[in-house]
Amino acid sequence: MSAENFLSRRAAAVQSSSTLAIGAEIKRLVADGQDIINLCAGEPDFDTPVAIRQAATRAMAEGQTRYTPVAGLPMLRQAIVAKLQRENELHYEEQQVLVSCGCKHSLYNLFQAVLNPGDEVIIPAPYWTSYPEMVMLAGGQPMIVSSTMAEGFKLTAAQLQQAVSPRTRAVLINSPNNPSGACYSAAELRALAEVLMLHEQVLVISDDIYEHLQWSGGPFRNIVNIEPQLQARTVVCNGVSKAYAMTGWRIGYAAGPAPIIAAMTRIQSHSTSNASAISQAAAIAALEGSQDTVEEFCRTFRQRHDYVYGRLEQMPDVQCRPATGTFYLLPDFQPAMARNGTSDDVAFAQWLLERAGLAVVPGSVFGAQGQQRISFASDTPTLERAMDRLQDALAVRKGRQG
Ligand SMILES: Cc1ncc(COP(=O)(O)O)c(C=O)c1O
Repeated sequence: MSAENFLSRRAAAVQSSSTLAIGAEIKRLVADGQDIINLCAGEPDFDTPVAIRQAATRAMAEGQTRYTPVAGLPMLRQAIVAKLQRENELHYEEQQVLVSCGCKHSLYNLFQAVLNPGDEVIIPAPYWTSYPEMVMLAGGQPMIVSSTMAEGFKLTAAQLQQAVSPRTRAVLINSPNNPSGACYSAAELRALAEVLMLHEQVLVISDDIYEHLQWSGGPFRNIVNIEPQLQARTVVCNGVSKAYAMTGWRIGYAAGPAPIIAAMTRIQSHSTSNASAISQAAAIAALEGSQDTVEEFCRTFRQRHDYVYGRLEQMPDVQCRPATGTFYLLPDFQPAMARNGTSDDVAFAQWLLERAGLAVVPGSVFGAQGQQRISFASDTPTLERAMDRLQDALAVRKGRQG
């Protein structure tokens, strides 16, 4: 019998993370000496601030190297409670917070805790690539609702109302959004909240991981800030990865109704136990220390955004909408693709890689066929060279097709 036959239906069906796979392949080509500019990065290009690294060193020196409570160190959970109060004006008790191995793990635990076979989860597209797979791994059914660039890549209240069914168990809201960089305004969240208030069987999942990387014109607001009554059925997922350049430390957290957090904690107790003790000590320093670097990171990303967006805007056959957060843009290359007789964004990404030495992530990975995700988590000289290459490639392509 072939070893494949041992795989569960679940394991046989799950796709590996396309963004991680593409990123790993590009890194391999670069290590092989190929001249490729990598615009696939899903993480800040900055180092973790020194004070945070020092906190981890101290924790190791002091011997904080053992298991912690499953839900996280009490000091970290208190720091998260304080952060949610200070920055988000949201009140939670310590038992309403679970620390996990990254926000991805928080979401994974959550789907495992709340989904029964066939339960539907509304996922607005463009979406982060892991949502549908995580839902399916928990036996749920992703219900993708697509928004176009013209709609600002955002779910409307009317779309939400239409998508809700008696089987809807949850809806995901990710603002600022990976991969589009779009942020929901207070009015847009209000409109969604009004629909959600009519459907009390729907749990709200607010993925706030990019909250600190936004320039939409006001302070970050999530749907619970807009409609406090939703707090009783919202789970806020967040972490330190993006704001503090701590992707490798693997610390995320969820805050929500105590029974849901308790169920997630039980599930985690049988999988990873606790997140790394040393990383937890570092996360305390991140949340309680100076927030100056967070603001500096955001300013830098905004400058880079303005540069890349400005260049894309001038390119023929590229349509782009400015982002108001994250470190991504999601330009539409369909005019350029159409000229080449293809509607396949994967083939187009491959063409850009081979012809221009430029690595981007095809939009279909995010449910956004025809677009390409460009990450500007690279320094400005790299972005300048990348945009020159892209411009040249599109010009050559235009010349070629006459
Ligand atoms: C929208 C979104 N949510 C969650 C995550 C997971 O972040 P973490 O590194 O904390 O697991 C990512 C990472 O790319 C993301 O883009």
